[in-house]
Amino acid sequence: MTTSQTSARPGGADPGAHDGGEAPGFWQRIPGFGRPTARFVHRWAIALLISNVGIVATGGAVRVTASGLGCPTWPRCTDESFVPHGELGIHGAIEFGNRLLTWVLIVIAIAAWVAVLRYANSTRSDKWLVTLIALGIPLQGVIGGITVLTDLNPWVVALHFLLSMILVSAATVLVYRMRPYPTPSEPAAEAEIPAAAIRRLGVYLAWLIYLVTWVTIYLGTVVTGSGPHAGDADVPRNGLDPDNATQLHADAVFVLVGLGIAALVYARVFARPQQRSAIVFALLILLQGLIGFVQFFTGLPIALVIAHMFGSALLLIGATWQVLVATETDRSRVDA
Ligand code: HEM
Repeated sequence: MTTSQTSARPGGADPGAHDGGEAPGFWQRIPGFGRPTARFVHRWAIALLISNVGIVATGGAVRVTASGLGCPTWPRCTDESFVPHGELGIHGAIEFGNRLLTWVLIVIAIAAWVAVLRYANSTRSDKWLVTLIALGIPLQGVIGGITVLTDLNPWVVALHFLLSMILVSAATVLVYRMRPYPTPSEPAAEAEIPAAAIRRLGVYLAWLIYLVTWVTIYLGTVVTGSGPHAGDADVPRNGLDPDNATQLHADAVFVLVGLGIAALVYARVFARPQQRSAIVFALLILLQGLIGFVQFFTGLPIALVIAHMFGSALLLIGATWQVLVATETDRSRVDA
């Protein structure tokens, strides 16, 4: 006996939502939070994901406009003031703008946290996940402060970026888990469903792609640390040769391209539910690789460097999604 459907939270009006005859309290007075529905929680999870991707791009803008020390200290902007003054010019405004965005993220994280915690169908692990993401945002504010206090040490800047990418991946998991619609399910006909070993192969492939995506992203930060976009004119670089670092980064990309093609072929040949996510991932690698090459050969123009950072966040979402679809469609089947 096998089961073939993958699960999802019910959408729309949520029968499991909070009720319990609670007296109208604080949360009841805020639209949506009194009895969060599946759709409501899912939208907050999406907002959390989008805001974390957004701050990767704005953080990139701070770096490539050489505004990293626009506010020369932290948590104040200057020794005398929390806000920048005229003398700090446009760089002060850009860096301070990014600091303010952290507060927007914190508000969104609190809203998502409350929504998930109050939602009746949330599991214990959903609650842990949203709590860890919410705590990660102020932590990133502190690491951002340390990057300023260490005069934009390239390894600390890389750590700051990588932690944001962990939050992006974690927020993707939250969006997936809170989705009010089902994921692609197995084919209806029993004969079309491959053996357990083949399904496991898909799971291993998805994890391998996830791992190599991280390696590629990490090597990208090493390239950045060796390159010209330090965040400020007088900041030391990591001392590696930019061309060699870029070569290593591109080598990892070639492995990723190979794995992306393997995932496409696998999903197509075995008609797996992850066909769509494999196509999206392949297109994202193509786009990101193209931006990478063009920015390298055109002297790293600011707009392309920001687009490349944004693209790496999208790619990580794609890699995370593939793991989620592969593991869930595998786990959802119970072989006799
Ligand atoms: C799947 C493909 C790729 C991914 C996921 C990726 C990811 C990244 C990441 C995360 C960074 C660091 C951003 C930062 O620290 O702020 C980076 C930087 C960089 N990447 Fe890629 N990359 C990819 C493809 C490529 C390709 C094909 C090239 C071309 C050879 C390339 C060239 C560069 C360069 C030159 C930098 C440094 C930019 C700078 O100095 O600011 N990338 N990449």
